[in-house]
Amino acid sequence: MSTDAKNSIAQMEKIVSLCKRRGFIYQSSEIYGGCGGVWDYGPLGAELKRNLRSAWWNTMTREREDVLGLDASILMNPAIWKASGHVDTFCDPMSDCLLTNARFRADQIPPTNGTIYKFLGAVPNAANNNLAINYGLTEGPILRWMGPKTLEHQWTDEELFENFKVGVLEQQLSAEDYVRKVDEAATMKALRTWYSSIYRFEFSVLLPPGKPEQSAIELARKFYQNRGIEFPCPIRSSDNPEWVEGTRAFNPENGAQLTVPRPFNLMLKTYLGPTATEADVTYLRPETAQAIFAQFKNVFDSSRVKVPFGIGQIGKAFRNEVTPKNFTFRSREFEQMELEFFIKPDEAVEIISGEVAAWSEGADLSEPKPNWGWQMWHRYWVDQRTKFYEGIGLGDVLEYYWQTPADLAHYARACVDILCEFPFGTEELEGIAARGDFDLSQHQKHSTKSLEVFDEELKTAAAKLTPEQKEAHIQKRLAAEAAKTKGEPMPEADVRAWFERLFKGNYVPHVIEPSAGLDRMALAVLAKAFVEEEKADVNGKVETRTILRLHPRIAPVKVGVFPLLKNKPELVAKAREVYALLKKHMNCFYDETAAIGRRYARQDEVGTPFGVTIDFETCGEKGPELLDTVTLRHRDSGEQERVKISDLLGKLLPLVS
Ligand code: GAP
Repeated sequence: MSTDAKNSIAQMEKIVSLCKRRGFIYQSSEIYGGCGGVWDYGPLGAELKRNLRSAWWNTMTREREDVLGLDASILMNPAIWKASGHVDTFCDPMSDCLLTNARFRADQIPPTNGTIYKFLGAVPNAANNNLAINYGLTEGPILRWMGPKTLEHQWTDEELFENFKVGVLEQQLSAEDYVRKVDEAATMKALRTWYSSIYRFEFSVLLPPGKPEQSAIELARKFYQNRGIEFPCPIRSSDNPEWVEGTRAFNPENGAQLTVPRPFNLMLKTYLGPTATEADVTYLRPETAQAIFAQFKNVFDSSRVKVPFGIGQIGKAFRNEVTPKNFTFRSREFEQMELEFFIKPDEAVEIISGEVAAWSEGADLSEPKPNWGWQMWHRYWVDQRTKFYEGIGLGDVLEYYWQTPADLAHYARACVDILCEFPFGTEELEGIAARGDFDLSQHQKHSTKSLEVFDEELKTAAAKLTPEQKEAHIQKRLAAEAAKTKGEPMPEADVRAWFERLFKGNYVPHVIEPSAGLDRMALAVLAKAFVEEEKADVNGKVETRTILRLHPRIAPVKVGVFPLLKNKPELVAKAREVYALLKKHMNCFYDETAAIGRRYARQDEVGTPFGVTIDFETCGEKGPELLDTVTLRHRDSGEQERVKISDLLGKLLPLVS
């Protein structure tokens, strides 16, 4: 393992340990040995998540005029998951190690080079010995005699006997011995008994360069032993060992063969109602987005909004991930924060505005414009989401992956993954997809309920078009359909029918979907904030201290309030007063135990950005000018300033909200 890899594992271990020690994140059901891929948030983790959730909700809904909120149920009619494609296609390719049963996502196995050793099956040693004793056969002829077609082949008595004769012949016995053995075996009973004891199951091992063949045999022996063969003697295939490059068919940890990848649906099934039959099956939602689509018309009709507008939702999602990993990064239960932003189809924009603004590098994305088509809206949301991440302190650890046309689903027009630097690598934090009208159209089709909107502005603009201009719009779309490289082009009759409805002001809105994971975001901010510093204590002893440099907006505790000494009632009373004043407005922590330096360090470790110390000056002991002032300490700079208690709120509130 490289030094970098070791360092990142060590870093991750420190973060996991801090999370447990200070009450951010615990393993679910820990006292029962845990529950795979599921995590619980402790007191500080709950606050951190709540702050991230509020930051998203406020930025994406409350502070905008064009986004509304939704809080839909986790359980829904299973028809939703059929329409969305999740029942049929929400699968990961999964491979199991034939030796250890460890499960891998086939597409995430690192490609490896090596030599493949194939085994056809195994003979229990006892049976092998019996045969050798009874018929004078050695292992060599037996194995060759098995031949490559042995395993799947149902041998007839005649075939078996013929093979046996060849095997015996190879021993170059005397004519009498040969006749005697063949006569004995001619009853076939002993032979068939032995033959039926062979365990027939192919197994291969990939050995890296330089590893001796014997280690492949040992692995095969373990494999057959696990399957109940006593003292197995693996039967090598007569094929020569084969050198392969870039294979993903073997367990990267031990070289044992993996099963061929098979699709594994990630949705968690459950039953609705007391009968619990197949007819009652439904799923824990694997994403929050579908409820937004399913409730689109209700929100639209009940809120007097106009396209473009969005619906945002935060909530739990569940996926039976094949390999949950990297702490909370890939979990089986997690929270999503999703926005479905509904826009007009580009054709409608063009009819209304006379053009569709094209995106170019440096285009002004600050304010949405009426002539924006899907491309500008997509770019706008990438920009908005980037600003959001900058606002919680992740701006400098982001990267972007623009999916290539080959990566994209046939209905998607573009998708960008916002990636973030984690100790285990640069990984996806959020995806922003331009999904056309796929989702609403699917639900319209499957539910048979119209999910179209009526757009008065479009109807008025379309009424002014000449027949030639209308035909030009249709021809442009037909050309685009003909140029499609993925999915089926829309037949001309359907295109014409679609335009007929469009010219009357009716369409199914298109959607831009910024979809973020709350747990990943929490992990990202923790990982980014985690810093270790060496500091000398009062006695000059150097110790390593952990500081979480969390952005004040998301820090679980905003202010630590400390009386300098706990045995001075006047200090304690004043500190309690300050604590009562602040805690109505922000999460504070009151602490009077241990030396003040120790108390600062404890708060630094959990990311508290400010400390307020009430000392003798506060009580006016050093002159009236310092009466009712406190020391305000800043976590990151260590800077301390004197602030009037009456100014504290005004100073702190803008910094933490
Ligand atoms: N509606 C689109 C959608 O669900 P996704 O890329 O599958 O898209 C969106 O998920 C986000 O949800 C991801 O970028 C990630 O932040 C989060 N997420 C997905 N699967 C997750 C898991 N198993 N554990 C934690 N977060 C996950």
